[in-house]
Amino acid sequence: MNVRYATRTVTVRAPAKVNLQLRVGPLRAGYHELVSVFHAVSLFDEVTVSPAEDLRIELTGDPSLALESVPLGMGNLAAKAATELAAVLGIEPRIHLHIDKYIPVAGGMAGGSADAAAVLLACNRLWGDPLDSAELLRLAAKLGSDVPFSLVGGTALGEGRGEVITPVETQGRFHWAFGCSPEGLSTPAVYDQFDRHVEAGRHELAWPAPAADDLLAALAEGDAEALGAALVNDLEQPAVSLRPELERILTTGREYGALGAILSGSGPTCAFLARNAGHAVAIAEGLMASGVSSSAACAHGPVPGARVVTKRPQAAHF
Ligand code: C5P
Repeated sequence: MNVRYATRTVTVRAPAKVNLQLRVGPLRAGYHELVSVFHAVSLFDEVTVSPAEDLRIELTGDPSLALESVPLGMGNLAAKAATELAAVLGIEPRIHLHIDKYIPVAGGMAGGSADAAAVLLACNRLWGDPLDSAELLRLAAKLGSDVPFSLVGGTALGEGRGEVITPVETQGRFHWAFGCSPEGLSTPAVYDQFDRHVEAGRHELAWPAPAADDLLAALAEGDAEALGAALVNDLEQPAVSLRPELERILTTGREYGALGAILSGSGPTCAFLARNAGHAVAIAEGLMASGVSSSAACAHGPVPGARVVTKRPQAAHF
C-alpha cells in the first residue's frame, strides 16, 4: 500500500488589534500620516488554506457578527493577499480559503487585515516557504496599513501610514472588554470626517505627534491604571459625530469602572481596559445589560501575530 500526501492543509490564527494611541497627521497621497501604538488581543480569526481547482472563499464564524457583509470575491483582502503572493511567485492561486471569523467585521479591530496576514503566512507555508519574513512584511504593507502589524503582533509602534512597525516593551497582561455595534463603519469615511473636523477648526492637528512617554512607561511597567489614563485616539470624535450612540457605549463602560475607554481604530468597536479578567467580564456583561452594545467580548493582550497552528497532511490511499 502506498500512502501519499495528496492534500495539504495549513491553518493560521491571526489576532485582532486595538490602537492604544492613534495620532493622525496630515493627508499625503491618499493616506494620513500616523503615529500609533498597536496592541494585539486574544480575539482571533482562523484561516485554513488547501489546494483547490481555483481560488474559492468559504466563511464561517460567530453568528452575532455581520458575516453576510464580508465580500467573498476579489473584494476580500484575504483573496487579494493570496493573489498578490501567487503573482510574486509566478503561480496561480489555486486554493480554497476557509475563514473562521470571530473578529468584528468592519469594527476597527483589523479583522480583514488579520485574515490577509493569515493568508500570506498560510499560502507561503503551503507553497514551500519561498518568502522570508522581511519579504512577507513588504507584501503585507502593499495590501493595507494594518496588515504588517497583524503579522508581527505583540505591542508595537506604527509609523508612516501605520505600516512601519517597531516592537514596544511591555510587562504582564492587560485585560479588555469590547462593545460591538451591529453595523460597521467605513475607515475612509471616518478619516474624511477627521479632515472635515480639522478644516472646521474642531480638531487642531498636532503634528509631529506629541511623544507618548506616559503610555510607553505604563506599558513597560505593566501599570494598567496609568495605561487607561494614557489611551488616546484622534479618530474617536470624528467616529462619534458619525455615530452619536458610540458616546453612550463609552460612557457605559466607564460607569462599570473601566480604567480607560476608547474607540478601537476607526470604530465602531469600543475598547475598555479592565483591572483583571473578572472585571473585563463584568464590563462586557454591563454593556449587554444596558442594551448599548449588540454584542460584547473579552480578551487579553499582548498576544503574538499570525501563527501557523496546524500543518496536518491528510493521508490519501492509492
Ligand atoms: O490601508 P487601508 O486599506 O487599511 O486603508 C483604508 C483607507 O483608510 C484608505 O484608503 C484611507 O482612506 C484611510 N486611511 C488613511 N490613512 C491611513 C490609513 C488608512 O487615510 N494611515
